[in-house]
Amino acid sequence: MTTSPGNEPSVFASATQTAVLEARNVFRFRTVDRQQVPIVKDVSFRVDAGEFVSIMGPSGSGKSTLLHVLAGLEPPSAGDVLLLGERLGDANEERLAALRRSKIGFIFQFFHLLPDLTVMENVTLPLRILGASLKKHRDRVRELLSMLSIEKLADRRPIALSGGEMQRVSIARALAAEPPLLLCDEPTGNLSSKHGEEVVRLLDSVRTRLGTAILLVTHNPRDAAAADRVLFLHDGAMQKEQSLTGGPFDVADVFRRLEALGI
Ligand SMILES: Nc1ncnc2c1ncn2[C@@H]1O[C@H](COP(=O)(O)OP(=O)(O)OP(=O)(O)O)[C@@H](O)[C@H]1O
Ligand SMILES: [Mg+2]
Repeated sequence: MTTSPGNEPSVFASATQTAVLEARNVFRFRTVDRQQVPIVKDVSFRVDAGEFVSIMGPSGSGKSTLLHVLAGLEPPSAGDVLLLGERLGDANEERLAALRRSKIGFIFQFFHLLPDLTVMENVTLPLRILGASLKKHRDRVRELLSMLSIEKLADRRPIALSGGEMQRVSIARALAAEPPLLLCDEPTGNLSSKHGEEVVRLLDSVRTRLGTAILLVTHNPRDAAAADRVLFLHDGAMQKEQSLTGGPFDVADVFRRLEALGI
C-alpha cells in the first residue's frame, strides 16, 4: 500500500488500489450443436473494495455464465479474471477452490441451504470447511445472525423458514468466512417484492458495515438502482454506453436504459 512520510495510509492509495475483482476482455464460448458459440463477449470491468455493482440484462444474455467465469467455476475462453490482483488463469484447481472458499461468498436465487442442518450449522459450514475454530468465531457469527435478524432462528431447520428468512440465512452463510466479495445471482428472484427489497437493503448494509464488495445480477430495476453502478449485458456483451456510473441515479434511470436496450 502507498504510505505517506508519517507512515499513515496515503489519501491517494484508493486511486491505485487493487480491484477486488477485475475482468479483462473476458470471452466464454460454449458448444451448441457442435458449433462454438460466444456466450460472453469481450467483457471488461472492475469492482473495487466496498463497491456495490449491479448487472442487468435479458434472460439468456450471459449473466450467470459471466458470474461462473468470474468465480473461477469455469475458465474464460479468452481474457483474464483477477481476484485481488491474482490471475485465476495462473491458479491450479486447489488454489482456485481455496480462493473461492475464502475470498468469495455466493448467494443464489434458490438459497441452496442444506435441509438436514440447522440455521447455525448452515451458516458456519464455510468455517468448518476452512477448518476454522467455531469457538473463535462464535461471537462474530452471532453478530452476523443478529445483523440479519435471524438470531432467533439459529436452531431451526430450513423447512421451518420463510423464503425471505432462508435468503437471509444464505447471506449469513456467504459472509461467514468474511470474504471481500459477494457474488449474487438473482437473490431476490424467488422472493416477494417486500422480502426482495429487504434482502437488497441488507446487502447494502453489509457493504457499509463490513466493507464487502457486492456484484448483484438482477432482473429487478429497483434492486439494481440500490447499487453504485449498473452495468448492462446484452447478448453477452457489456453495453458501455448504457451503463449508469457513480450515482445518484434512481429506478427511472434504470428503466430508461433498459428501454433503450429494448429489454
Ligand atoms: N451448459 C450450457 N451449454 C450450452 N449453452 C448454455 C449452457 N448454459 C447456458 N447456455 C446458454 O448460454 C446463454 C446464456 O445463459 P446464462 O444462463 O448465462 O444467461 P442468463 O443471462 O443468466 O439468463 P437468466 O436471466 O435466464 O438467468 C443462453 O443462451 C443459454 O441457453
Ligand atoms: Mg442466470
